[in-house]
Amino acid sequence: MNIPDKQKKILTLLADGEFHSGTNLADALSISRSAVWKQINGLADLGLAHSAVSGKGYRLDKSLELLLASKINEAVSEQAGALISSIEIHDQIDSTNSYLVERAQQNAPSGTVCFAEHQTAGKGRRGRQWISPYGSNIYLSILWRFQQGPAAISGLSLAIGVAVIRALKQHQIHDIGLKWPNDIYSQGKKLGGILVEVSGETDGPCSAVIGLGLNLFVPKNQAHSINQAWTDLSKITGQSRLFRNKLAGTLLSYLLPIIDEYEGVGIKAHLDEWRDYDCLNGKSATLFIGQQRFDGHVRGVDDNGMLLIESQDGSMQTFASGEVSFNS
Ligand code: BTN
Repeated sequence: MNIPDKQKKILTLLADGEFHSGTNLADALSISRSAVWKQINGLADLGLAHSAVSGKGYRLDKSLELLLASKINEAVSEQAGALISSIEIHDQIDSTNSYLVERAQQNAPSGTVCFAEHQTAGKGRRGRQWISPYGSNIYLSILWRFQQGPAAISGLSLAIGVAVIRALKQHQIHDIGLKWPNDIYSQGKKLGGILVEVSGETDGPCSAVIGLGLNLFVPKNQAHSINQAWTDLSKITGQSRLFRNKLAGTLLSYLLPIIDEYEGVGIKAHLDEWRDYDCLNGKSATLFIGQQRFDGHVRGVDDNGMLLIESQDGSMQTFASGEVSFNS
C-alpha cells in the first residue's frame, strides 16, 4: 500500500533531518504553503515528530533512511538471495504479518518477504499492539512453507532470535540477549520481538509467517504508547545513523538460511548458541499463563527449547508457552 504522493514527496524531502522552508516545500510539491502545513501536520498520524521554527521552516526530529529494495538487495548474501521469491516494501500496511498470512492463503510462494515503513495495526504477541512509526524501525515478515506439520517447526522463534543476534553482531552490535520465548533484549529492556504465525494440517504441510519488529529509533512522541521497558539501537550504539537498508539486508542474510534448514535440523542445532544469549537464566522471575502465575528461578531451556523454572521447593517445571517477567 502507498501513502499519498504528496505525503511521500514531503517525507523524502524531510528525510535528511534538515530544516526546509514552507516556501521551498510548497514550490517542490507545487502546492500552497497552507497545504504544506496540512501535510506536515499529517506526519503525526504516521508516528513522526517534527519541529517548526519560524524563519527556518520544518524539520523531522530525526533523519530517516527510507527503505529501498536495491539497497536491501546489495546487503543480502547470495545464499539468502537464492531463497527469496520477492521482496515487497509497503509505505503503509495494517500489519506485515497479517498481509502475508492473507497472501499465503492466496498461494504466495515460500520466500515472500515483506517490509513496511509504517504499520497501522502492527501485532505483538498476546494481542498486543506493536508501535510502528514511519521509517523509524524495522517491520519485517517472511512467508515460508514447510513440508511437515506445525510440530516439526516448534521452537522456530528461538532459532529466529539466534539469527537476529548474529545479524546484529555483523553490525558490531554486541551484548544483545534473548528473553524466552520471543524477545530481543538489551540491559533489561526490550529491543525487538518475534511473532510466528503458523497454519496448516497437523500432518503437514504447514506455512509460517515469521514477523520481526526491531527498534532502531523510536520517536519520542511514540514512546509513551509502549507499555513495557524498551530500548532501541540508537540508544544502545549511541549512533543516530543506523543504515536501515543494510541492516535489513543483513537480517535477511541470517534469517533465511536458518528458516530454510530448520525443518531438517530443528531447535537442537541452535540451542547451545541460544543459551549463550539467554538473559533470563538464573533470574528470579514469574511466568504468567493466562490467569495462572508460577514463581521461581529460571533454569534455562530444555533440549526442546521449553522454559525450565525451579520453584522454591526445588521442583522443576517445564513450560511451552507463557509470558515471563523479571522479579527485581
Ligand atoms: C512481540 O514481541 O510481541 C512480537 C512483535 C512482532 C512485531 C512484528 S513487526 C513486523 C510483524 N508484523 C506485525 O504485525 N508484527 C510483527
